Amino acid sequence: MRLRRPVVLITGAGGEIGHGLVTRIAAAGSPIITLDVNVLERPLARLVAREFTGSINDVGLLDRILAEFEVDRVFHLAALLSSRSEFTPVAAHHVNVEGTLNLLEFAQRQGESHGRPVTFVYPSSIAAFGLPDPATKARAARVREDEYAHPQTMYGCNKLYCEQLGDYYAKHYKQLSADAIARVDFRAVRFPGLISALTLPAGGTSDYAPEMIHGAAKGETYHCFVRPDTTIPFMAMPDGVDALLQVASAPRQRLTRTTYNLTAFSRSASDIREVVVRAFPYATIEYRIDPKRQAIVDSWPADVDDSAARGDWGFAPRYDFDRAFEDYLIPTIRERYRR
Ligand code: SER
Repeated sequence: MRLRRPVVLITGAGGEIGHGLVTRIAAAGSPIITLDVNVLERPLARLVAREFTGSINDVGLLDRILAEFEVDRVFHLAALLSSRSEFTPVAAHHVNVEGTLNLLEFAQRQGESHGRPVTFVYPSSIAAFGLPDPATKARAARVREDEYAHPQTMYGCNKLYCEQLGDYYAKHYKQLSADAIARVDFRAVRFPGLISALTLPAGGTSDYAPEMIHGAAKGETYHCFVRPDTTIPFMAMPDGVDALLQVASAPRQRLTRTTYNLTAFSRSASDIREVVVRAFPYATIEYRIDPKRQAIVDSWPADVDDSAARGDWGFAPRYDFDRAFEDYLIPTIRERYRR
């Protein structure tokens, strides 16, 4: 069946960001098709026009989607996160880089077939940064997009490269062919650590924050794998989803870059522990430092400069640290586990 209306394609739709994004786009009335290696949970699957279960590296499957649907927006969320990628770097490259290349080609061919650029939204990450040592991290303050772009993880390398690959597809695709026209309108945001009340992350290195909160709500002892003073930027998931929707719909002429830093608040692991223990007084959160994961987080900036996103497309997170916990995380998580 070919849907007459253009559809939105979301890869990795069953993951952390996908949950919120599918819900929001469906509520706005846009038809969605999804591609995820896992079958979607029933409540999410009910919101989508068509669910494809498979790999972003299955080019045959992407060709089928190309033939059947007119896709005008792609949210390419599928990825292996940073800790996971250090155990299987070749698999990470395969999924994070080759998979992204497949999706960019898909978008280019979609754009060629319907004669308009396809908006391609890509979540990059603070992992694209790499600060060489703690002294530099302490000195660096609010890091801008083009500073310290020397990632120390496979995931960070993958994200940084794919930002550039997207830029190539948007601006220089087949630049020596007389008849080629770039049809990918690529837009990337570098997310800080995302904290969701509804889902638990898998395989990230900023996961100590959400794991602390969910562990406390479930009454489980949690061993935080980074030092109390460890500080990176964070954002509550609803602001992350808003940012993706906002950057997707920003007028092209307003965008002065293809990749934008984002942040809502920078806090230490001990600040987060303190607010969690206040909300869940029986929580047991201890520190059991994993030096390797610690080194990864130490290479990420303590704060980023997101003034370009604020100026170009009006990024303005609703949740600062206090509101993220008081109005979103704690009530939503309490309710989730009560049910
Ligand atoms: N939060 C992610 C991770 O820790 C980074 O994008 O892998």
